[in-house]
Amino acid sequence: LRPTHRLLSCPGTVAADVKREEQSSRSVETDSEGRTPKKKFSELQKERREQAQRTVLIHCPNKISEKKFLKYLSQHGPINNHFFYESFGLYAVVEFCQKESVTSLQNITRTPSMDTEAAIPFKSRFFNLKMKNPSSQTSEQSCIQCSNHSPPSSKKLSELLCYAESIDDQLNTLLKEFQLTEEDIKLRYLTCSLIEDIAAAYFLDCTVRPFGSSVNSFGKLGCDLDMFLDLDEIGKLNTNKTSGNFLMEFQVKSVPSERVATQKVLSVIGECLDHFGPGCVGVQKILNARCPLVRFSHQASGFQCDLTTNNRIALKSSELLYIYGALDSRVRAMVFSIRCWARAHSLTSSIPGSWITNFSLTMMVIFFLQRRSPPILPTLDYLKTLADAEDKCIIEGHNCTFIRDLNRIKPSGNTETLESLLKEFFEYFGNFAFNKNSINIRQGREQNKPESSPLHIQNPFETSLNISKNVSQSQLQKFVDLARESAWILSQEDKDRPSPSSNQPWGLAALLLPSVVNSVSLAKKKRKKPASERIKNLLESIKSSSPENDTNTNGK
Ligand code: CTP
Ligand code: MG
Repeated sequence: LRPTHRLLSCPGTVAADVKREEQSSRSVETDSEGRTPKKKFSELQKERREQAQRTVLIHCPNKISEKKFLKYLSQHGPINNHFFYESFGLYAVVEFCQKESVTSLQNITRTPSMDTEAAIPFKSRFFNLKMKNPSSQTSEQSCIQCSNHSPPSSKKLSELLCYAESIDDQLNTLLKEFQLTEEDIKLRYLTCSLIEDIAAAYFLDCTVRPFGSSVNSFGKLGCDLDMFLDLDEIGKLNTNKTSGNFLMEFQVKSVPSERVATQKVLSVIGECLDHFGPGCVGVQKILNARCPLVRFSHQASGFQCDLTTNNRIALKSSELLYIYGALDSRVRAMVFSIRCWARAHSLTSSIPGSWITNFSLTMMVIFFLQRRSPPILPTLDYLKTLADAEDKCIIEGHNCTFIRDLNRIKPSGNTETLESLLKEFFEYFGNFAFNKNSINIRQGREQNKPESSPLHIQNPFETSLNISKNVSQSQLQKFVDLARESAWILSQEDKDRPSPSSNQPWGLAALLLPSVVNSVSLAKKKRKKPASERIKNLLESIKSSSPENDTNTNGK
C-alpha cells in the first residue's frame, strides 16, 4: 500500500524558491516571438541530478522545532532549500548549497547500536534524527505548516470540476490537481540518487536516472518511479578523450549475451537493495521479463520503484514525450484527463495484465493530436528532419534521432478548444478501425497492422515492437464502448448543461462517473458468455500478469 504523501511546506523556502524562479524566468531573454526559451530535457535532468546529489533525506521526530533543526544542519554549510513531508512519520528533504556539507554531516553521524538486533553499517544520505533531550524541546517546538500534496480525493475532484467555468477549465483544473509538484519531483530525483549511491558501491561512476512518467511531464501524483541504471556512459565518454599510442581497457568477466550481463548486474543490485538499502523493502527480482527489472518499494519516499538497466531507448522515449508535452499547453491537459478517465473506468490498473497502459494512452492522444487539421503536434519523422548533427542518436541499431531543442519547433496554428478536442478524441477512437490499422506517431497516420494483436501501437524507436501487445480484445472493446458513451455524454452536454449551483456533475465530471450503460452491457455480456470462454479469459489474464509475461514492464 502506498502511503499518502503529505508535503509540509516551509514558507521561507518554497516561496523564496518560487520567487527565485519567477525572477530568473523574468531575467531570461525571450525569443523572436516573445516566448521564454524552454530548457532541453538533458539540461533539466543534469540540473535536477546535481541538486539531488547535494540533498539528504532525514527521518525526524514528530515534534520538532524547524528553526532549531535548520540551525543544527547549517553547521555543515548553507542550505539552499528544504521541505517536510509525511509518510509513515515525518521526513525532511534538505538541499545543501555544496556537496561537501553532505560529507561533513556524514562524518558526525553514527551507526545506531541496537539491543536485540544488529545494524548493517551502510553510510548513506538517509538519516535518522533523534533528540538528545526530548522533554526540554517540546515546549519550544514550532508548528510546521502543512500543505497536502497527495492527489485529490474523487469527492474533492468532483467538486472542483463542478464549480469550473467551462470544460476547458475542467481539464486544466484536473491537470493542476494531479500533476507532480516541485517537491514530489525533487523527491523522485533524490530517491534515484540514493539508489545510485548503493549501485556505485559496486559500479563506480554509474548513474541512476529517472525515466517514464516521473520525467516525461505526464506523471500523476502517486505514479511509479522508473529508474534506469546507466553503467557505461562514463566509460564511453572517456575513450574519446584518451591520447597517445595506447588504449587502456578494463579486465572484465564475460558472459554469453547482453541480456545475461543485465540479469547478473540487476541480480547483484537487487541483493544489495534487499540487504543494505536503507528503506528499500519488498525487493522482487523480475529477471526473466523481456526487459529484466528489480521492483521494490522505497518506504521513506513512498515510491514503488522499477529499476532497469540497458534500457537507453526508454530514456529517449521519455525525452520525446517531454518534448510533445511542452510543445502545446493542450497536450498535457488532454493526456491527464484521458489517463484519469481510463483509471476511473478501470481501463487501466496498477496490476500488470491485459489492460491498456498509461503509456499506450499517451501515444493515442499524441497520435490523435497529430491527426488534427491543422495538426497540433508534429510527427516524429518531422522532428527527425529538424535535427542537427548534435542530435544524432543511434541506440542498438535503432535511429532515435529527433530535434532536442524544442524552441526551434514552430507552434501549431490550430486553435481548437479542449472541449472540442476531448469530444473528437472519443469520437475518433470510438470509430477507429483497430482491427486493421496500427497507431504510429512516427508517421502520424494509420498503417496496416503488421500482426494480429487487437491493439497495435508501434514503438516509436523499436518499430518492430507493439507497445500494447498485452491488450486483450475484451479490454479494447471496453475502451471503444466507453469512448462512444463518453462522446455521447459530451454531445448531450451541449444541449442541457446543469447550472453550477445545482451541484450536478457535468462535462468532465460526468465522464469520470461510473458508466451506467457500460456496466449494464458488461453484466449482460458476462452472463451470456459460456463457461469455457470465461475460463479462457481468466487463464489469459493470469498468463499475462505473471512476471515472465509482464508486458506492462517487459516492453520498457
Ligand atoms: N515503455 C516502453 N514500452 C512499453 C512500456 C513502457 O518503451 N511497452 C517505456 C516508456 O518510455 C514508458 C516507460 O517505459 O514511459 C515507463 O513505463 P511505465 O511505467 O509502464 O509507463 P509510464 O509512462 O511511466 O506511466 P505510469 O504513470 O503508468 O507509470
Ligand atoms: Mg512509470
